[in-house]
Amino acid sequence: MEIIKNPQELQKRALELRAQGKKVALVPTMGYFHRGHASLMDAARKLADVVIVSLFVNPTQFGPGEDLDNYPHDLERDAALAQEHGVDILFTPTRDSMYYDDHCTWVEVPELGVNLCGKSRPVHFRGVATVVTKLFMVAQPQVAVFGQKDWQQLAILKRMVRDLNIPVEIHAHEIVREESGLALSSRNTYLTTEEKNVAPLLCKGLKMLREMVEEGEESAARLKDELEAFYAANIPGSRVDYIEIVDPDNITILERVDGPALCAVAVYLGKARLIDNLLIKV
Ligand code: PAJ
Repeated sequence: MEIIKNPQELQKRALELRAQGKKVALVPTMGYFHRGHASLMDAARKLADVVIVSLFVNPTQFGPGEDLDNYPHDLERDAALAQEHGVDILFTPTRDSMYYDDHCTWVEVPELGVNLCGKSRPVHFRGVATVVTKLFMVAQPQVAVFGQKDWQQLAILKRMVRDLNIPVEIHAHEIVREESGLALSSRNTYLTTEEKNVAPLLCKGLKMLREMVEEGEESAARLKDELEAFYAANIPGSRVDYIEIVDPDNITILERVDGPALCAVAVYLGKARLIDNLLIKV
């Protein structure tokens, strides 16, 4: 596996690979890999001749007071894991090489960013859409793999690619969870042992809601109240950022669950802000 730091160098390599007729897959990440990231790499391996993984903690998607400076990192371990999973090129640019001091060009998908994480993290998705566009330009992939863990991010990137005619096929990968149900996340490292013991209840509550829907409940308000009460009773010390039921494609808020519906949650637990989601009606 090759490690490339310089965006110009990677772009040159990627254009050469494309000229040779190679199919290139990109897996964008912020590092501190877990099995979720690894499963995206495995999926990419099956889709392309050349797998590029980018590891870049993108400053423009963090708001003031968020964990940009404390975001966990371990390049040596990440590089070893990427190599084990058959990655060809690990791209690890510096902040300075990705952004000029006077960077002022942004990609925004505002309609899909008003709810859920976009509400509590106002600049987040502008940063994500912009950096992913830049990574697409640098790595020149035909396919890119993203996880459903960040469902809203995925919906925004699919829309961006459609609206801007970007020739990249977006592949969605299901959420990889611990046996307990807890969705894997680099931020789980912020949890204490006690918090880690209760964190799986996040997912348990979502499954409870899906059962209620299967049994005929259609009122989003009643479902959300039920989940809020479940978290308050069972996850002591947690604080709900949002509990929403949305259209899975448009991320608009639903009042009735009478068609495809996604329940998405963000909950503060100790130092971590955990997100999870589940399709409660397909
Ligand atoms: P990061 O949080 O590192 O996630 C990288 C990719 O891994 C994303 O597509 C995310 O959805 C996926 N992922 C994370 N946890 C997962 C899990 N438990 N199961 C399946 N997939 C999982 O998302 C980002 O980085 C950034 O916003 C990025 C897209 C790289 C732009 O900076």
